[in-house]
Amino acid sequence: SKKITIAIDGYSSCGKSTFAKAIAKEYGYIFIDSGAMYRAVTLYALNRGAVTVGKSVDAAKVVALLPAIKIGFQFNANVGRFETILNGEVVEDAIRTIDVSNLVSPVSAIGQVREQMVALQQVMGKEKGIVMDGRDIGTVVFPDAELKIFMTADPKVRAMRRFKELQEKGDNTTLEAIEANVRSRDHMDETRDISPLRRADDALILDNGNMTPAEQMVWVKEIMNKL
Ligand code: C5P
Repeated sequence: SKKITIAIDGYSSCGKSTFAKAIAKEYGYIFIDSGAMYRAVTLYALNRGAVTVGKSVDAAKVVALLPAIKIGFQFNANVGRFETILNGEVVEDAIRTIDVSNLVSPVSAIGQVREQMVALQQVMGKEKGIVMDGRDIGTVVFPDAELKIFMTADPKVRAMRRFKELQEKGDNTTLEAIEANVRSRDHMDETRDISPLRRADDALILDNGNMTPAEQMVWVKEIMNKL
């Protein structure tokens, strides 16, 4: 069947990337994690001292770093996954720490950061046959996407999922800290001035709080079959 663009948006830790990856695998599409790009900018700014944990973000300092930041994705056959590359270095795990998670929403609220990331995302998704997940993919990055999905689930369910994921990686961040992060990111992402998180009018809602990955696949396949 004809390849399309699939835009997946929604709240933090809803399993957007997991779902997007599974769709990409099923249909032979390219998967792009737009959140990883904002996380990579945040990691770079953190390493350069342009942002500090617990302090408000200095937008001018972050913007000054942008020309030095090169972000890409690369398949690592050894671990069988796509990894985020920041200036030639694999940062897939480094961008998922609680410090980066706590700073990424204010960094991604900066207009010039968004402009650059959106431009890059539009280049990466020029060809059809892509599935991209984020917060503004159906509203701003690919408003003409043939399929838009808006994901949501109970914050407690989402925090527990992320907790288990981090535990498996040996990261001992508490469930409370994760739930606080999930809730505050949702709030910041929904209330920022520039392209806030919101459902596109033509996005289908998927509440996956009580759904297994297999059930989500059945749901999307039925929709894909009708397109
Ligand atoms: O998807 P993920 O949770 O990794 O995204 C991290 C953060 O990056 C989000 O909380 C949001 O602040 C920002 N983001 C964004 N626009 C996107 C993707 C992510 O503002 N398209």
